[in-house]
Amino acid sequence: MEYKLITLKDVKANEEFKALIERQSSYLEELGYTEHGLRHSGYVSVATANILKELGYDSRMIELGRITGWIHDVGNTLNRKYHGLTGGVLAYNVLVRMGMDPKEAIMISNAIGNHEENVGVASTPLAAALQLADKSDAHRSRVNKGGYDEHDIHDRVNMSIRKNYLVVDKEKQIIRLVLIMKATSAPMEYLQIYLPRMVMCEKAATFLGYTFELVINGVLINHHRRASAVNIKLRSSETEVTSDTED
Ligand SMILES: [Fe+2]
Ligand SMILES: [Fe+2]
Repeated sequence: MEYKLITLKDVKANEEFKALIERQSSYLEELGYTEHGLRHSGYVSVATANILKELGYDSRMIELGRITGWIHDVGNTLNRKYHGLTGGVLAYNVLVRMGMDPKEAIMISNAIGNHEENVGVASTPLAAALQLADKSDAHRSRVNKGGYDEHDIHDRVNMSIRKNYLVVDKEKQIIRLVLIMKATSAPMEYLQIYLPRMVMCEKAATFLGYTFELVINGVLINHHRRASAVNIKLRSSETEVTSDTED
């Protein structure tokens, strides 16, 4: 059987995917979630492909990364819950109908089915790259146009993120997420929301043979590697209140 080498261009032109992506965005906007539209799909598509490129995968795998990132959230058209799993099934069927080799479609659907932190496990480079790309997307532009709500932790955190980027250091084999947060929120609030996702990123990077570093406002917060550079002696005005020492 002759299969087609489906590209992101083909996927973007496909009527079924067009309808799915449009609906995933409007459904989540109605529910008050952060932006899940074209900007998020575009970000994840580019980042997934770039991670695979930096890691030295071939051009076809990079194209599969582009496609997977673009369609990874289509399961949201059914329900937010288990949208990775439903999205994997939806995507597989449309891709095969478009003429893609089922082996490629299965790899894509497996990555989509494993992109949520509650059920996802990285078992292929494509799945690991998608996890890193998706979970690194937190930014003020994701606060829904409906309005910023200062009582909503997601809005506070996302609004405070001025810069957000992922770095691959091939030499040191490090994948680093760098965030610059401003005053509407703080790293502690970021972690309240994103900790399970950051743990997923650590596992994804490990699967790829890399170390994941999370750097917020210039501080590496998930490793001890640079602890020696930090002065841990107490200042005269400080008292440690968690130790059991007596006067
Ligand atoms: Fe998702
Ligand atoms: Fe996503």
